[in-house]
Amino acid sequence: MPSVTYIHSDGRAETVTAGDGDSAMITAMQNGVDGIVGECGGGLVCATCHVYVDDAWMEKVGAAATDEDEMLEGVAAERSPNSRLSCQIKMTDALDGLVLRLPDRQF
Ligand code: FES
Repeated sequence: MPSVTYIHSDGRAETVTAGDGDSAMITAMQNGVDGIVGECGGGLVCATCHVYVDDAWMEKVGAAATDEDEMLEGVAAERSPNSRLSCQIKMTDALDGLVLRLPDRQF
């Protein structure tokens, strides 16, 4: 099962195991990782699951789809080229070891 490391804005890192096929948002919620709110439950309507994909993982994670890209316009923290909504990142073995950085706020 793939592992994912969340790095908080204060530098704290938490590494947890994801269920295969679970989103990076659900994985954070189920493992008590704070910093991701996921208010809409993955429905792509809240933008409170914003993360910054570590540069080394950008290619494997891929780019946001058009509807996600539009929602990224509404994130609370600064949007970067590596911004993604974690509810749209599906954890698979190909992403084992993924590193996601959390913004300092989701609202
Ligand atoms: Fe609402 Fe990701 S959880 S957009």
